[in-house]
Amino acid sequence: MRVLVTRDIPEEALKIVAENAEMELWREARPIPREVLIEQVADKVGLLCMLTDRIDDAVLEAGKHLRVVSQMAVGYDNIDVAACTKHGVPVGNTPGVLTETTADTAFALILATARRMHESEQFLRAGEWKMWDPMLLLGQDVHHATIGIVGMGRIGYEVARRAYGFQMRILYTGNRPNEEAERNFEAQRVDLPTLLRESDFVSVHTPLNAQTHHLLGAEHFAQMKRTAILINTARGAVVDQKALYTALKEGVIGGAGLDVFEREPLPMDDPLLTLSNLVLVPHIGSASIKTRTQMAVLAAKNLVAGIQGKPLLHEVPAPIQP
Ligand code: GLV
Ligand code: GLV
Repeated sequence: MRVLVTRDIPEEALKIVAENAEMELWREARPIPREVLIEQVADKVGLLCMLTDRIDDAVLEAGKHLRVVSQMAVGYDNIDVAACTKHGVPVGNTPGVLTETTADTAFALILATARRMHESEQFLRAGEWKMWDPMLLLGQDVHHATIGIVGMGRIGYEVARRAYGFQMRILYTGNRPNEEAERNFEAQRVDLPTLLRESDFVSVHTPLNAQTHHLLGAEHFAQMKRTAILINTARGAVVDQKALYTALKEGVIGGAGLDVFEREPLPMDDPLLTLSNLVLVPHIGSASIKTRTQMAVLAAKNLVAGIQGKPLLHEVPAPIQP
């Protein structure tokens, strides 16, 4: 049984794959080129892929023998799940194991942006620190501020737990109430305009899909406080990035902490890079050694289950047919 793994991943996971199948591995330190993916998938029964691989009808047509697509990520907006379903191929993902690490990343961005850690560090390293200064690099408090969590899923819930520890007031939006978050962290479910109006920090935790594409744009930034900070560790395209640039530049909102972008890698001529009131990191939400290992192992187990015709440990639900 031949399988393709599209990127070098933690050894523990490769071992599981290699013990159960004949593994072809794309070892280069860049995503597998699309034409190579299409060529190599032809004789494979399993595909272990990354969020940088577009898995669509063309890949599934080429991979006629595929029994499973196993993605090493929780988000799967790069995968045409309807096309996989049409070809009878289940899709696996890795929820759960990265929840708390990603919540830590969101909180790191909240603290770093509010307290201007990036500007402070640049200031010190540039040799500009001449004396203690009562007015130097003043930022905003995180403790006792109001946080608005857009999407109270697993990751949103863990962000709420951290916010509660900082004695923050917690607002959230979501398709349904999250009673645990309300009971444990005094979170209040509100509509989006209320959340935008009242929050000092707005943190996005929704998957990217047709309903959430550009969920936040110019008209939403206009409703936010002029001091508000936007945090995005979900997917870049949940936020209209051009509109965000304008809002930050014109002082419509106060700042942003971004781990994800509409185009990744962020092009070095992107106008966001000309602004100082934001912290930008390269999609490292789940990037701890332990979590990336757990994600890879889970993706390997989904792959093995799929090629053996067993139920996946975590299967993405098939889209509801209209
Ligand atoms: C990372 O962005 C993931 O979806 O796991
Ligand atoms: C992902 O783990 C989520 O549901 O927030």
